[in-house]
Amino acid sequence: MRIRDARYLASATGTSQLPPPAFAEVAFAGRSNVGKSSLMNCLLRRKKLVRTSGTPGCTRAINLFRVELAEPEATLDFVDLPGYGYAQRSKAERKSWGKLIEDFLANRPGLRGVVCIVDVRRGFEPDDLELIEFVEHVGVTPVLVATKLDKLSASQRKLRLLTLEKEMGRPVHGVSAETEEGRELLFTAILRVASIGPTAKLKGEDATSDAEISEI
Ligand code: GTP
Ligand code: MG
Repeated sequence: MRIRDARYLASATGTSQLPPPAFAEVAFAGRSNVGKSSLMNCLLRRKKLVRTSGTPGCTRAINLFRVELAEPEATLDFVDLPGYGYAQRSKAERKSWGKLIEDFLANRPGLRGVVCIVDVRRGFEPDDLELIEFVEHVGVTPVLVATKLDKLSASQRKLRLLTLEKEMGRPVHGVSAETEEGRELLFTAILRVASIGPTAKLKGEDATSDAEISEI
């Protein structure tokens, strides 16, 4: 796929402050410092569009980005969600982050998918499993991702991903924001949950066969 443009749209610390949904939305969720923002920059091939940091808990608000694709021609919004599970913050603050994410997931009619990201070395932990369950509960499709694949040796990668897939009982996309490994396949999965394909426009659900989608 070719990206025509990607730009920052809005930021909010409450769902009500966000602009109303205009296009299909795909959110990125995961533990603090797991690499959400880096993965979004990698997918969009933009070095610093989404702010990243070595300091856990950097992204505290919900940040919206508008993504215009040239091939297939479509527009969608990427949503960077605050990281969860950062132990150094107060309990009250953690809870409010949890609520922010929960409100967003439950009240955003344009939301089609949530990319649920874990560190490939840590795997899916109770917080992550809870989030995935909640995403499904509100009728949104989770896309499971294990990132920082470059931290494992090439021989370890395949085995680790197989183990994670077995544990979760469904596909897990292995990616690295550093090397771009797995980027194309993940992008294809994202477009699929957003119902975007070469011939399917937004909301034109199921107009595209899997075979066509795999050729993106
Ligand atoms: P918060 O917004 O604070 O929750 O963090 P985040 O999940 O957005 O993580 P961010 O993208 O800011 O990345 C955190 C750190 O991990 C940074 O130092 C990144 O450079 C590093 N990082 C992210 N992705 C990768 C990756 O694929 N490989 C490696 N080696 N490092 C990565
Ligand atoms: Mg971030």
